[in-house]
Formats: sequence, C-alpha cells, structure tokens
Amino acid sequence: MDKIDKLKEITTIAERRGFFFPTAEIYGGKAGFYTYGHLGKLMKNKFENLWRDYFLEDDFYEIEGNAILPEQVFRASGHLENFNDPLTECQKCKFRFRADQLIEDALKIEAEGLKIDEINKLIEKHKLKCPKCGSQLGKAESFNMMFPIQIGQGKELAYLSPETAQNPYLSFKREFEALRRKLPFGLAMIGKAYRNEISPRQSFYRLREFTQAELQVFFDSADVDKCEEWNKIAKYKLIVFLEKDRKKGKAKEITCDDANKKLKLPKLYIYYMYKMQSFYFDILKIPKNKFRFYELSKEEKSFYNKLHWDVQLDLEALGGFKEISGLHYRTDHDLSLHEKHSKEQLSVYLEEKKKKVLPHVIELSFGVDRNIFALLDIFFKKEKERDLFEFPNSIAPITVGIFPLVKKDKLPEKAQQVYRILKKNISCFYDEDGSIGRRYRRVDEIGVPYAITIDYISLKDNTITIRERDSMKQKRVNISELTKFLN
Ligand code: GAP
Repeated sequence: MDKIDKLKEITTIAERRGFFFPTAEIYGGKAGFYTYGHLGKLMKNKFENLWRDYFLEDDFYEIEGNAILPEQVFRASGHLENFNDPLTECQKCKFRFRADQLIEDALKIEAEGLKIDEINKLIEKHKLKCPKCGSQLGKAESFNMMFPIQIGQGKELAYLSPETAQNPYLSFKREFEALRRKLPFGLAMIGKAYRNEISPRQSFYRLREFTQAELQVFFDSADVDKCEEWNKIAKYKLIVFLEKDRKKGKAKEITCDDANKKLKLPKLYIYYMYKMQSFYFDILKIPKNKFRFYELSKEEKSFYNKLHWDVQLDLEALGGFKEISGLHYRTDHDLSLHEKHSKEQLSVYLEEKKKKVLPHVIELSFGVDRNIFALLDIFFKKEKERDLFEFPNSIAPITVGIFPLVKKDKLPEKAQQVYRILKKNISCFYDEDGSIGRRYRRVDEIGVPYAITIDYISLKDNTITIRERDSMKQKRVNISELTKFLN
C-alpha cells in the first residue's frame, strides 16, 4: 500500500472507531493535539502496563512528578538555551516551517542538526520557496520549543515540561535516601510532555502534547563498563544502523560483545540496548526487519547526550524508518547543572565503596503515542474482504467479542451469560446488531483477537464457537473451559 493511502486508512479507522481523533474538532482542532478515544486509551493503558512490568523488573520504581516546573529547572538543564528548532517563515503567506524538514522534503537529504547558517546557505543556494504558496522564505532562526506559563497572579515564570526526565533528577536525592543509599537504581516516570513544535504534521506522530515513558538509571560512572548479565547477553545480536553506513543504507546485526569491542560502547549502555530491543521483539512482537538502532551523529545528538541511539521502526504510513524511542547516555549533565544552579549538594556517599560520587545517568526514553501509532501501522493489514489489525493479544484494546448468532430465541440471554463470566478477567465486548459476518468485520477492524458466537447448539450442549482473528479458523469449546482456553 502506498504511504499516503496507508496514513489515510489508519487515520480514518482511528478516528471513526475511537483510537484517536483531533482535540476540539468542533472548533476546527489545533495541529499537534489529539484525544485518545476509548479504544486508544485501552491500548495506551496496556502499553504502559507492559512497559512498567518489563522495565521496572530490576527493582526499579516509578514516581509521579509535575508537568509544570519552575523556570530555574530549565535554565539549569539547558533547555531554555538549547532546546531549539530552526524556523523559517514565508514572507507572503506567513506560514512557518521547520527549516530542516523543509530542506529534507525539498532536497531529499538529511538536514537535522545543521547549524542555522548552514540551513540559510542551503535555502539560498537551492532557491527554496514556500511549499504552500511558492513565495520567498525569510531567514531561518532558532525557535525555542518550550511552552512558558505563569504561576498564580504574580510574574513567577514556569514552563510545561518538554520531557518527564527532569522530575527524577529533581527527586534524585530524596529517592537515594529512601532507597537505602545504593547505586544503581532506576526511577521511571510516565507522564505528559509538551513541545511547541513548529507546524506539526504526520497525523499522530508529531504532537505538541504527548506522553513519555522514561526510565532514568543512576549509577557510579566507574561501573559504566560493567554488567552483571554480560555472560547472558554477550552473544545476543543487536540490529544497528551505523552512522558510517548511511550511504550504503543498511542495518546489520552485531553481537553485544562486538558492540563493546568494536563500537566501543560501554557494557551498561549495551545492556539497555538489549533490553530495549527485546521489549520490541518479545513483548510488542515487532518483526525483526522493521526494527533498528540508529546511531546519531555528533550534530544530531541531543545537547545533553554523550551517547545517543534512537530506536527506529519502519512505518509504511510515514514512508520508512522513523524515531520511536531513544537510549541516552546523559552522563552527569543534569545532576551537575542542578547542583550548580540550586547550590544543593547532589553528590552522594556510597557506603559500600567508601566514596562520594555524582551519579551518571542512562535514560531509556519512549514516546507512548509514537509507539501506539507504530503498532497501528505495523499490524494493519488490508485483505480482499476485510481490514484488520493483527495486534498481539497483550496489546489489543479488546480481547474477545461476544455475539449471539441472532437476536432472538434466547441466544442473547445465553451470550450475556458468557459475557458476564468472561468480563471478570478478560476485556470483552458484546454485540448483537447486524449480521454475524458484519460483526466479525467490525471486530477485525479494531484488532480483537477472538470472537465467540453463541448459536442454537450452545443452548443444547453449552458449547460456543471461538473464531481466531488472523486465520479466521473456528473451534467449538465448552463454556466451562472458556476462561482457561483463552488464558
Ligand atoms: N528525555 C529525553 C527526551 O525527551 P527526545 O528524543 O527528545 O528525548 C524522546 O524524546 C521520545 O519522545 C522520542 O523518541 C519520541 O518517541 C517522543 N517524542 C519526542 N517529541 C515528540 C513529539 N513532538 N510528538 C510525539 N512524541 C514525541
């Protein structure tokens, strides 16, 4: 399916069936703001819970900080100075564009990370014009993406947080004490992030308000090349797309051992590459050929990162591999700057090692919404007779659809009985309207893995048919064994 068609197909189903739709649509909506409908929210909850179960298993914990943080926090973290994108404005229609994206679209080259004067030179050299009206573009300049707000009636300035990460840094000292003064430890936060993106586009992919699930792992920098699980993962193969291979355009497999010896990545960083890749393969069931770790160049890395690799997934609706999450070695960038600006000591004494350290941080950063969008893209399938999402059971918004064959002869009552039994443990959905074929199509279209039909035989022998979404095969199962069967 071509890119435009797929984006349109997914967006249409998402809006019509209740995955997501533009916020304040009745007033025309605002670019970059979306609402999760009932199905999207069920799926988002499932994603967040899978993420928690998987990444917090090493005795890591979750905190809940604030979306609004005082100006000092972002002055210290460097966001007020560095969290910028290049902006150019059309001289005539006044439409504003992200200048690097405009260059990428027009010249089919990579432009992320270019300096403002390099961007201006390219716009001049190639005589690039406004993509909307064809007029002259203004000089590109840096545009800060933070959303300022005022607290109370006074002039106390604050900002909406562009990442959840600052909350664990601000809470580090307290949590270190509460967690019995040991390193490493991990603090996660799932919460809203806000960025005043210039002309957000691509449907649900680039948002101004979105959810992040981020894990900050605090450790002693002397331990960065140590990993307790190393023997277990040394031969595990990571899929990496190296900066130097960009011209050849191919990702390759490399063992964790080689990532350490040849790419000179530290073992702890590699361990989290392994964790992230396994999350995509084992938990979300992403096909191998759709996944890669993408090495960012010096210019592309975020200002706080020493090492920065993104997870990219191949999304047909957006025309290729796109950033979905990232693994960041932030060193002591944030803690040292907060220490300096707040004048609070953030170094801690490690009893076991008899020394004082300012911990370093490895950050696992996931955009929840981008992951949901990616799941919709990757598992969407168009068949002759039907559209379907082949979601794995663990992420499907609803697991079972329950249907009486017809709306008479005591079949709805029997079906309601099954519904009441199952809904205690499994997310189910009851539907008695329309032909059975149409009801199957309706649940296929929202990715429900199983459909149960109650027919006349059910009244006689207490069995039902269970239809599997992808193969459409049916099986008769006794109602008393249904919960066990589905589990
Ligand atoms: N704490 C680090 C951090 O925020 P980032 O690369 O700027 O790093 C992390 O963002 C993740 O947040 C991205 O990989 C992406 O999934 C998500 N994200 C970033 N900007 C986004 C946007 N405008 N809309 C939706 N998701 C976004």
